[in-house]
Amino acid sequence: MASKALRKRLNKRSDSKPSPSNSSTMPASWPPHLNNYRKTSVIFSVLLILSVFGLLGVSSNMWRNLKHDAVSTPVYSIEVVNEFPHDPQAFTQGLLYAGNDILFESTGLNRRSSVRQVALRTGKVEVLHEMDDSDFGEGLTLIDERLFQVIWLKKTGYIYDRNNLNKLVKFTHQMTDGWGLATDGKVLFGSDGTSTLYKINPQTFKVINKGIVKFNGHEVHNLNELEFINGEIWANVWQTDCIARISPEGGSVLGWILLPNLRKELIAAGNSGIDVLNGIAWDSNNSRIFVTGKLWPKLYQIKLHPIKKNLNAGDIEELCLRAAIHF
Ligand SMILES: *[C@@H]1O[C@H](CO)[C@@H](O)[C@H](O)[C@H]1NC(C)=O
Repeated sequence: MASKALRKRLNKRSDSKPSPSNSSTMPASWPPHLNNYRKTSVIFSVLLILSVFGLLGVSSNMWRNLKHDAVSTPVYSIEVVNEFPHDPQAFTQGLLYAGNDILFESTGLNRRSSVRQVALRTGKVEVLHEMDDSDFGEGLTLIDERLFQVIWLKKTGYIYDRNNLNKLVKFTHQMTDGWGLATDGKVLFGSDGTSTLYKINPQTFKVINKGIVKFNGHEVHNLNELEFINGEIWANVWQTDCIARISPEGGSVLGWILLPNLRKELIAAGNSGIDVLNGIAWDSNNSRIFVTGKLWPKLYQIKLHPIKKNLNAGDIEELCLRAAIHF
């Protein structure tokens, strides 16, 4: 804008400069060297204006970048430090680490939904609970000896005994749908595919409080699988290769983790049938982070590296935000 106005002003000046009527006002009796002097000073003025214009142009670009583009939220890339086999038939919807190299996993899809105990190192399913055909498994979390699971398109969920995956209780919750679950050991955190993060009482299943997750003024829709890590909620954002690090108090995005290379490399290796990144597990005793995806043949242990390069918020929005979806 500023540069346009400046250009206009510049044009006006150059228009009014060498017009014949102007030169005719010059006394014919002026000595020639004064005439030359005037020409030179006009050229200097134009050069001066041009260089000021150039400087203003550069600084206005810088200003624009600072104002609209630079992202102050930390952004991380990942390094794979270990790869483990993962059942390529598992449509991963819930994942957690339970100690002793054991994972619990909830899988979705109609007639293929399950809760399973999985050996981390081999990917082998050690205990399997097959769900009713009418239930599509979603988020899973563990408090003490009890696994909590929510069901897609229902306001109900189940509690299982972690030792044998026997179903103990059916419960009803207050979210609009069941997508993700996590815990800090005391309360449940839940997602329902919207931008809302819920805090839920694990005895009554009443919502304690809830917050809208926002980044740069935009709602982060489609919050999916959740994990509680060092006081933060980490959430897969459905249909993206991003994990949002969210403050459980208030829902602000504390950081973004970008993982596009995992899915791309699996596809490049010929795994054309894989679905999206989903599933985060945390080994708090050994600070190990695990991620996988729906129908992925691998589960990864990853390490984060801050991206130092100046990323702009628009790039993050394009990578990590999607329109709201209503099923
Ligand atoms: C962490 O370590 C404690 C103490 O050894 C153990 O009781 C617990 O099961 C471990 N938890 C996980 C998730 O590994």
